[in-house]
Amino acid sequence: MALVSSKEMFEKAYNGGYAIGAFNVNNMEIIQGITEAAQEVDAPLILQVSKGARAYANHTYLLKLVEAAIAETGLPICLHLDHGDTFELCKSCIDGGFTSVMIDASSKPFAENIELTRKVVDYAHEHGVVVEAELGALAGIEDDVKVSVEESHYTHPEEVQEFVEKTGCDSLAIAIGTSHGAYKFTAAQCTRNEKGELVPPPLRFDILDEVVQRLPGFPIVLHGSSSVPQQYVKMINENGGKMPDAVGIPEEQLRQAARSAVCKINIDSDLRLAMTGTIRQFFTEHPDKFDPREYLKPARANIKELVKHKLVDVLGCAGHAHELTNK
Ligand code: G3H
Ligand code: 13P
Ligand code: ZN
Repeated sequence: MALVSSKEMFEKAYNGGYAIGAFNVNNMEIIQGITEAAQEVDAPLILQVSKGARAYANHTYLLKLVEAAIAETGLPICLHLDHGDTFELCKSCIDGGFTSVMIDASSKPFAENIELTRKVVDYAHEHGVVVEAELGALAGIEDDVKVSVEESHYTHPEEVQEFVEKTGCDSLAIAIGTSHGAYKFTAAQCTRNEKGELVPPPLRFDILDEVVQRLPGFPIVLHGSSSVPQQYVKMINENGGKMPDAVGIPEEQLRQAARSAVCKINIDSDLRLAMTGTIRQFFTEHPDKFDPREYLKPARANIKELVKHKLVDVLGCAGHAHELTNK
């Protein structure tokens, strides 16, 4: 089995009411944790590499590790460039064997976003590679966000049809209230539940619905979709870390999104939290240990458990990998 594109994955996910998990990868243990989980529950996967991951681990190492995971698991895996910011970076990944790239020109004016995205799409399609583009900027954390300013970060549904027609992109990332990292909302933007945990404002499903009405059948992507599991935030804080009020997107809302036109859901921070919490706890309990295999092994195991939970309970894509491989 070779690397696959996400085209058929998205067609099946759209019609089947589930989403494909797109997990960021930076090293062998992360790749193994994710792919072993997916193999156990028969889930198709998108493994994505950021510019930073490529700078850290090197394109060839990541490509070969992902190819090794395919050889070991037999899974349909799409290898995707996450947040490509230039034509040259996208081209380098297309030439270097990736099956999907994202060109993120969402911070540029609409016309420039279209122009750069179109250029990447033309090159990618000539090489059988699919392209994700983005419209609308994901909200970050701002202490004093005025609603009108915040609103301006959401995707404008009235722009999506023209954007997709003019760029020819294969999927579209939209901004409906998710954001990157482990601090997605300030405490002031949230309420608290009975356990004292922060409860963020709900995602803007009304914007998603309007986008879907204008782009029927078209695959939508959600970035910034970590849920920031509180057990790992606690594990980090109890073992020398300091992550006060870290909060993410409630999993029920991601499940709801996955049932709709959202075909790809990006998760990175949750895996980082699982890995970091596990390693911090290991060192608290074993201050004498220094063999990386001893602390990376439980970290990899907890990534696997976390990813399995996402695939089965949040994304709903478990049980669907064989539909892409048995043809
Ligand atoms: O959206 C960004 C991903 O979480 C990747 O993060 O650029 O630190 O690798 P990174
Ligand atoms: P999180 O930071 O919520 O995991 O989002 C990851 C992401 O969107 C990668 O592109
Ligand atoms: Zn992202």
